Amino acid sequence: MTDVFLDIDGQPNESLSIISERLEARSLSGKFQEFTKKYFDLIKVDNRTNILELGGGTGIIGRNFIEYKNFSGKYTVSDLSAELLKYGKQKAKRQNLDKVLNFKQIDAMANEISNKNYYDIVIMHTLISHVPDPKIVLTNAIKHIKKSGKIIIFDADYETLLMSSGDKKLDDIVNNAIKKGCVAQPKVMREIPKIAKGLDLNLINYQANLLFEAGEADFFYGMGKALSTAVVKSKQLDEIIAKEWISKLEKSIQRQTFFGMCPYITYIYEV
Ligand SMILES: C[S@@+](CC[C@H](N)C(=O)[O-])C[C@H]1O[C@@H](n2cnc3c(N)ncnc32)[C@H](O)[C@@H]1O
Repeated sequence: MTDVFLDIDGQPNESLSIISERLEARSLSGKFQEFTKKYFDLIKVDNRTNILELGGGTGIIGRNFIEYKNFSGKYTVSDLSAELLKYGKQKAKRQNLDKVLNFKQIDAMANEISNKNYYDIVIMHTLISHVPDPKIVLTNAIKHIKKSGKIIIFDADYETLLMSSGDKKLDDIVNNAIKKGCVAQPKVMREIPKIAKGLDLNLINYQANLLFEAGEADFFYGMGKALSTAVVKSKQLDEIIAKEWISKLEKSIQRQTFFGMCPYITYIYEV
């Protein structure tokens, strides 16, 4: 089993558009977007602040940041996926954000980095759970940052993720396939304090937010549909099982019996 987010450009075209649309949709409104704004509130910026997002995908977090903070400094969206960056670049241009928002292909796992001690803030918004070695990524983030700069790590404890249609057997199969096929590091947020300590980072703030839905499933229906389809397309889940599960999920929403939860955590470190 491999995490589809490790190689987005290597996924079938259909998965690429499912992933980019899902990344956009989950951050355009609702609780997930609220959690993001909660950590935005903890970040002080001015028009000289230089931000790097590692694993920034389509740039939706950057666009939200600019709008919410009325930000006029520099926000660089970087990602491994050329396709997501292309999508994001076009979107930023259409929204006239291309003066503040720029796009750069960076492998957060690379041995060498350019632009050392260059940024004031590095944001990793649901990146660290998808990389093969979180310590390497964090080490690289530190190299990018100026002295006293901040590193923000926002991610989920995916080990705890549960989307329950009420059919226990199907829920087990699909939730496990999603965790294995979409999250390389489902428990990484439990290990971050130890990894960060080993890298001499100072924890200056943290937050926890539970994304919980009962009966309704505004967030989890989109998540369940997109991620189960992505694991089907990457041949890590049988299509018939995924379809049956989605249909059970829909029934549980109609009957208002759906249960879903996922804890999201933010760590803010100073270098
Ligand atoms: C779940 S997405 C998050 C995207 C964006 N931060 C957001 O929240 O919309 C994870 C992203 O990490 C990227 N990624 C995975 N491995 C990477 C690596 N080694 N270096 C840079 N980006 C990577 C993927 O291409 C993907 O865009």
